[in-house]
Amino acid sequence: MYLLGFSWGAGSSAYQTEGAWDKDGKGLSIWDVFSHKKGKIQQNDTGDSSCEGYHKVKDDVSLIKELKLNHYRFSISWPRLIPTGIKYHINEKGIQYYDELIDHLLESKITPIVTLYHWDLPQVLQEKYGGWQNISMVNHFNEFANLCFERFGKRVKYWMTFNNPWSVAVEGYETGEHAPGLRLKGTGAYRAAHHIIKAHAKVWHSYDTQWRGKQKGLVGISLSGDWGEPVDISNQKDIEAAERYVQFYLGWFATPIFHGDYPQVMKDFIGRKSNQQGLGTSRLPTFSSQEKSYIKGTCDFLGIGHFTTRYITQKNNPSVRSSSSYFTDRDLAELVDPRWPDPGSEWLYSVPWGFRRLLNFVKSQYGNPMIYVTENGVSEKMLCTELCDDWRIQYYKDYINEMLKAIKDGVNVKGYTAWSLLDKFEWDEGYSERFGLYYVDFRNKNKPRYPKASVQFYKRVISSNGFPNQREVENWRRKAVETCSSSNQLLAADPLTSHMEMVTEIVVPTVCTLSILLSAVFLMFLLRRRN
Ligand code: NOJ
Repeated sequence: MYLLGFSWGAGSSAYQTEGAWDKDGKGLSIWDVFSHKKGKIQQNDTGDSSCEGYHKVKDDVSLIKELKLNHYRFSISWPRLIPTGIKYHINEKGIQYYDELIDHLLESKITPIVTLYHWDLPQVLQEKYGGWQNISMVNHFNEFANLCFERFGKRVKYWMTFNNPWSVAVEGYETGEHAPGLRLKGTGAYRAAHHIIKAHAKVWHSYDTQWRGKQKGLVGISLSGDWGEPVDISNQKDIEAAERYVQFYLGWFATPIFHGDYPQVMKDFIGRKSNQQGLGTSRLPTFSSQEKSYIKGTCDFLGIGHFTTRYITQKNNPSVRSSSSYFTDRDLAELVDPRWPDPGSEWLYSVPWGFRRLLNFVKSQYGNPMIYVTENGVSEKMLCTELCDDWRIQYYKDYINEMLKAIKDGVNVKGYTAWSLLDKFEWDEGYSERFGLYYVDFRNKNKPRYPKASVQFYKRVISSNGFPNQREVENWRRKAVETCSSSNQLLAADPLTSHMEMVTEIVVPTVCTLSILLSAVFLMFLLRRRN
């Protein structure tokens, strides 16, 4: 299969890599403040200096060139451009930084794909208005977006309004694991998401009416979604629960954007539960009919961030006012198969077939939109200082293969973005989880970068524009690991720790072994969500 015009890339985000948190007039973001509070982040790490990306534009563009990427995905820090969040003061030094990055990329024929909001809200807007709990964010965000279109839009043709708004809403306003750290259970996430969807639509319309004619670019959004597979495929309740899982995740945002309103199942479940709690209205806000038509169709392309899959089974949760939450509203339980590889982050199991199913779901639910995979990759634990990341190669090989199958199925995938270019600040996990193709030595002030074996592998995928045949791909994998063991001098002094973790807590069979499932006693528990 030849992939015409397919774009291969890698990604990063501002707070996770730039560092320079208080340099050259940058304002504070909610992540600066949150990470400085004790006990919020693993080892009390912060993004203060991170990869020092702010000072290493040339170096990083060289790495991107080395990989021969077609595109590079990065995000713009709102408080670096507008320190107070509101447009009356623009920080020209911040503009210069992104100018330089964009120019270097274009000189090297690399397409910039730019995210406007990868979670770093100006702190002032949080303090003054309550951040995404407040409808006024819609206009503030629109002003920021227009500034970006004005200053960078001649050169940037791919824009994404938000990255993974699910995380912003749930982890920022419901569980409090992410900035701003609020725990407004059962309402906070829905309210934040409601304003984010409106803000997305407003920015799309601004671009459409004011900039598209001159700049001829595209505006999309990057949504995340795990795939949910029924535990028992012959049980209607499990099938519905799995569908609900995906609708409460990806559908929460995609359905309004493509069809104008929240998924029916969310309206039904949250509405009914709110009613049982004695509330006069649903905890899920509603769109007016005017808003519905304004929001519907505001997506030139859909970004998909995908890492993992869960088995899903039906589980009734009583509607109790004090404990109702986004999670209990769904009436389901998430399970994993302990045989799934799990090299790094606790939540990230390698389940490649889920990727193909998710992509096909997007095709069938939203009218086969143009898709860019905006994030896909795997982490390792901090102590694994080995550059021979064989398991990451395996992950990429398997997931890219499933994406190629989805393209054969007719899914309109136009680009793939490996997550991530560099090891970086992994939110509440600090530096303890490394997603990079390049290893970053955070102990060294200069933050040097070193290629892991996966760089060699991914380079070959890109230069062949996909997979020629299985034997060849297996060869790439072998060669990549060979070169890495001979060049792996840098970290030779460090103790080599196994990257594999024993998974003992959960025992769940796959669908193929359903018969075992029926006789087995297995332990279920809700997994804490992180991505
Ligand atoms: C999704 C987030 O967008 C990204 O910033 C993060 O690094 C990955 N998940 C991995 O957790």
